[in-house]
Amino acid sequence: MPVQRPARPKLFVTRRLPDATESRMNELFEAVLRDQDTPLSREEMVAGLHDCDVFVPTVTDEIDADLIAAAGDRVKLIANFGVGVDHIDLAAAHARGIPVTNTPGVLTDDTADMTMALLLATVRRMRVGEASLRDGSWSGWAPTSLRGTRIGGKSLGIVGMGRIGRAVALRARTFGMKVHYHNRHRLPDTVEGQLGATWWDDLDAMLPEVDIVSIHCPLTPETDGLFDATRLARLREHVYLINTARGEIVDEAALAAALESGKLAGAGLDVFADEPNVPDALKALDSVTLLPHMGSATFEGRQQMGEKVITNIRAWSDGHRPPDQVLEGWA
Ligand code: DGY
Repeated sequence: MPVQRPARPKLFVTRRLPDATESRMNELFEAVLRDQDTPLSREEMVAGLHDCDVFVPTVTDEIDADLIAAAGDRVKLIANFGVGVDHIDLAAAHARGIPVTNTPGVLTDDTADMTMALLLATVRRMRVGEASLRDGSWSGWAPTSLRGTRIGGKSLGIVGMGRIGRAVALRARTFGMKVHYHNRHRLPDTVEGQLGATWWDDLDAMLPEVDIVSIHCPLTPETDGLFDATRLARLREHVYLINTARGEIVDEAALAAALESGKLAGAGLDVFADEPNVPDALKALDSVTLLPHMGSATFEGRQQMGEKVITNIRAWSDGHRPPDQVLEGWA
């Protein structure tokens, strides 16, 4: 028997969303939308939580246990615009009986494409080459200038073989790379065969075997600081590290030190521990390509994320379990 829920729930949306998403939300719901696109203060979020049935945050909103405790009784669903939910205290939400939904699947290919772009930009030194054109220092083609590293034949170590990790593996294989992966669970033989991927139960055993590492695991208490100084030291000399997952998975100071010492050849980073702040030590290095968390930033992907948010809210308001309800221990 479906549960009785508001047919036209009141939404509180923390950031500007694509026009098509906002228009459809206005048609279907009583939507409180933002005019400005800036992160809200905690006080503004508490006020929003008090006065809505459904709260629609993004990765830029820290929804911790204190915020949930201060939320009042009205809010009944948190419908996140994004796939990662590390910014939401799931246990605290569930303890209050508030389900949390996310938007998996629709940003997989875009994020995998961006991972390959970042990987190529880093190992082929595109940032340095581009800068030399813009600052006028390029004096023409030369046999020894601007050499990078060929990726064909190199070993890629993928950390986290969920949807995005697998999409990266597929692309990497097409580029002629050998794919290794570390994941809690081994993929079925058929999928491993299609990707030509080798599973490593032990991350520390895989790391000394690869030329490039690409991080695709979620941020959890277990992966927070996973790439610390000790783990970076397990890599061979002149390896590259790519991160399009979450900044906190890498100890940024340890990474900068490994790059400065020449132990690591380079890094491609789309995510940072304290966004939008990026450590000066990383900005100072030519061997690092830095992007502003834009892995999922396509018109198509962001619109589909909005459609998922709406579908989840509709299913919930109809008294059903939303299709993308996140369980505790989701990672
Ligand atoms: C997500 O959805 O978690 C991404 O990081 C936002 O692009």
